[in-house]
Amino acid sequence: MKPVLLIHGGAGARKLTREKRADVLRSLEFILRDAYSALARGESALSAVKRAVVLLEDDPLYNAGKGSKIQSDGKIRLSASIMDGKRRRFAGCVNVEGVKNPIRLAHALLGKSDRVLSGEGAKRMARELGLPFASALTPHQLAQFRAKKSGKSGTVGAVAIDRDGRLAAATSTGGRGLEYPFRVSDSPTAAGNFANGACAVSATGVGEQIVEFAAASAICTLVEAGFTLEKALSKVFQGARKADAQFGVIGVDRRGGMIHSTLTPSLIWASATHNGLNFFR
Ligand code: GLY
Repeated sequence: MKPVLLIHGGAGARKLTREKRADVLRSLEFILRDAYSALARGESALSAVKRAVVLLEDDPLYNAGKGSKIQSDGKIRLSASIMDGKRRRFAGCVNVEGVKNPIRLAHALLGKSDRVLSGEGAKRMARELGLPFASALTPHQLAQFRAKKSGKSGTVGAVAIDRDGRLAAATSTGGRGLEYPFRVSDSPTAAGNFANGACAVSATGVGEQIVEFAAASAICTLVEAGFTLEKALSKVFQGARKADAQFGVIGVDRRGGMIHSTLTPSLIWASATHNGLNFFR
């Protein structure tokens, strides 16, 4: 199997400015090159999606990890999840404070019996695991908070298939900004991040709507039932469009077929295959 990696940096309500787009393209290329070369060397899809999302979290350009938005009580709370399609195993953390890379915590939880932890429990587990802690605050997000600017969403994610045909998905978010404290988005749920033996999907956009359409798990379940990835996407988007839902997805299937599609005005995505790199326009 030729490996495939697809990443996203969030769905948006407007197109990026020329300067921001240039910064984002540079960042996506760096992240893709790093994570795809590991995948091409034989790293598993699970490790590759974790690696890509760690790098996306570390880049303050995106609303996940460093650069995350601030909830209405002035606190930054991060959520992330990861799913191994072959083992059909999901793990995540919800509204955790201070952890540098919530996706590392989600990945570590894959090996535990209690696989989705929230708030203080998630933080305590991160300490026990010796994971790094760091402030996610940036001057830009502080200014947005002070100006009471929220935006509808913001998330990063990655999906991959490896040389052995194993699929995995990872998603991480800083939330919507100015939301009620401890709001739970889609990202640490199977609606926002899902993988099985047939498909892997990461969603971005308005979390409540992604949950209402169970977007990632619905697409993967349809593909597992025999639908093509495109048909599964169009079935889920058909209903979502009628409800004027605002979200997008990236996905890869067991043949290496890809989707990157959104109901919002823009979606930041990039893909890497043995044929080279491709980027959103
Ligand atoms: N999809 C991220 C959020 O709704 O917060």
